Amino acid sequence: TLLFSTSVAVIAAQAASANEELREWAAETFAPLPSTIPALNENPVTPAKIDLGKALFFDPRMSASGVFSCNSCHNLATGGDDNMPTSIGHGWQKGPRNSPTVLNSVFNTAQFWDGRAADLAEQAKGPVQAGVEMANTPDNVVATLNSMPQYVDWFKASFPDEADPVTFDNFAKAIEAYEATLITPAPFDAWLNGDDNALNAEQLAGLELFLDKGCTTCHNGVNIGGNGYFPFGLIEKPGADILPEGDKGRFAVTETADDEYVFRAAPLRNIDQTAPYFHSGLVWDLKVAVQIMAESQLGEELTDQEADQIVAFLGTLTGDMPEVTYPMLPVETATTPRPTG
Ligand code: HEM
Ligand code: HEM
Repeated sequence: TLLFSTSVAVIAAQAASANEELREWAAETFAPLPSTIPALNENPVTPAKIDLGKALFFDPRMSASGVFSCNSCHNLATGGDDNMPTSIGHGWQKGPRNSPTVLNSVFNTAQFWDGRAADLAEQAKGPVQAGVEMANTPDNVVATLNSMPQYVDWFKASFPDEADPVTFDNFAKAIEAYEATLITPAPFDAWLNGDDNALNAEQLAGLELFLDKGCTTCHNGVNIGGNGYFPFGLIEKPGADILPEGDKGRFAVTETADDEYVFRAAPLRNIDQTAPYFHSGLVWDLKVAVQIMAESQLGEELTDQEADQIVAFLGTLTGDMPEVTYPMLPVETATTPRPTG
């Protein structure tokens, strides 16, 4: 038994040092989620502002039809997205792209699949006005908010230094403050922070493959992506069944030939909650999405076991979901603009 317990101790020590080496390697490319709400650019986050932003996020009256709220397409009960290939918005129109999750989106250095919005406050003004999403106008949003005294009070409490706080800019800032609270610490963060038991052997094998194969060239940082642009099909362009020809990605933003089919490396936190995959939303199975990535971005064919291990690692990026109490919204008055369309 002495011999036995010695060899168990040796194996345990080897495992601990292998874990330590892998952790050092991982720490060069990834960073754990911070434990506090991140600071925002020119937008101090206060409890009043978070509550206002939450009400706005859930309020369908911010859309022209009175049907769509942010939560329609970024449902916090289903991973912060809508589980559809591409979203359905105003007048039952199908939008062109898959809805990304709002969870942890505050850590993306650019918003949207093509990075065309710099931050969440700029981003939040987009969907409200998009014809295929909420089809509203800034003036109508402000009129709607001003028609409900409760909202006017909440804006005053959120922007105490401003004489006329009910503005479209402040609408966006409040939503940004709420979104900054939607962060999901995951087992992978616990492991990065030193907890050896947070990941099992298969997940660790997947992490090692993710680093070794080069997925981390594009998927790195605190969100495991969301911070750089790359051609989708760097080595091998996927077929139109995955990458429809009509959407040329960043090309529409920069109009530079090099940016054809360039997209933001998708952030991968909570990825096993947000099928279907890719900007087209045409792939439902995460293992298939992983295999497509290996072929299109790295020119590699993964074995079945390798793909399973990477999927197991990706599962460790699913975190504790924010606890959400459904907000009670201000009641309409006689001056509230009526739903249209
Ligand atoms: C993208 C928030 C309303 C569908 C995004 C992103 C955020 C966001 C933060 C970027 C995420 C990322 O790039 O990782 C909001 C807020 C809304 C709202 C605050 C309310 C004001 C909607 C609605 C729909 C929708 C109502 C569906 C009808 C989408 C789609 C994208 C997107 C399809 C990706 C668009 C692209 O990349 O071109 N949204 N959203 N959103 N959202 Fe929303
Ligand atoms: C998207 C995983 C390598 C760039 C994705 C998605 C997954 C994934 C699961 C879908 C995300 C979603 O739908 O929300 C992987 C794995 C890799 C890998 C496991 C290694 C085997 C790479 C590399 C690059 C890259 C090396 C850059 C050269 C991208 C881009 C997207 C993406 C640009 C967005 C594609 C789109 O427009 O739909 N990745 N990836 N990935 N990845 Fe990777």
